[in-house]
Amino acid sequence: MQKKINIAIDGYSSCGKGTLAKALAQSLGYLFIDSGAMYRAVTLHMLQNGVDVNDESAVVQALDDVRVGFVNNAEQQSEVTLNGVSVEKEIRNIEVAAHVSEVARIQAVRTKMVALQQVIGEPKGVVMDGRDIGTVVFPDAELKIFMTASQEVRARRRYEELVAKGDDVTLAEIAENLKHRDTIDANRENSPLTLTNDYRVLDNSHLSREAQFVLAMGWVDEAIG
Ligand code: DC
Repeated sequence: MQKKINIAIDGYSSCGKGTLAKALAQSLGYLFIDSGAMYRAVTLHMLQNGVDVNDESAVVQALDDVRVGFVNNAEQQSEVTLNGVSVEKEIRNIEVAAHVSEVARIQAVRTKMVALQQVIGEPKGVVMDGRDIGTVVFPDAELKIFMTASQEVRARRRYEELVAKGDDVTLAEIAENLKHRDTIDANRENSPLTLTNDYRVLDNSHLSREAQFVLAMGWVDEAIG
């Protein structure tokens, strides 16, 4: 049997990390884990319970009541759960997006999520996307991909996604939120998004999904050996 590896995909918001990660996982028969969904689920819990996300000690206290997990839906796609209930739709709204960076910068939140992510990755055969997967969660991942695209391209993609879902948003609002998250994600004290030289860089500003997939599969083949 072919050796199983872990694949870490990190990069800025709305770079298409999830799309590529899902395609790779499906083609390899691996588990796909969206680590951002876990931070979003924690954020949703805080918002639902009226916890001020800028009050670190309140967030840490409320964290004891948070259980994050994954279930497969009827289409065999994984959905994130919060205290046993799927919140896959709720975590994508703009309110969660506006506050998730504040929650994800708190070390206690990260420690709890990273521990869970490492348990999931233990048997190998996982494609996980996020910001710190190749640096903190799976520093020994056999393949690390850093995805990037221009801010304009990313803002338009996210805007079109949300409009298609029926959300009432403006492009300017989305671009502002993206900029805000980029700044926090790359400059926060705890596990900032960092490009180290063991990553393969994939700038997809002008690459089709198919081209990205072919490129990444080439790297997978090299990593599996
Ligand atoms: O990938 P995403 O946009 O769903 O991520 C939501 C937020 O969670 C984003 O602001 C960064 C944070 N995040 C993180 O800090 N570490 C991860 N491994 C994944 C996401």
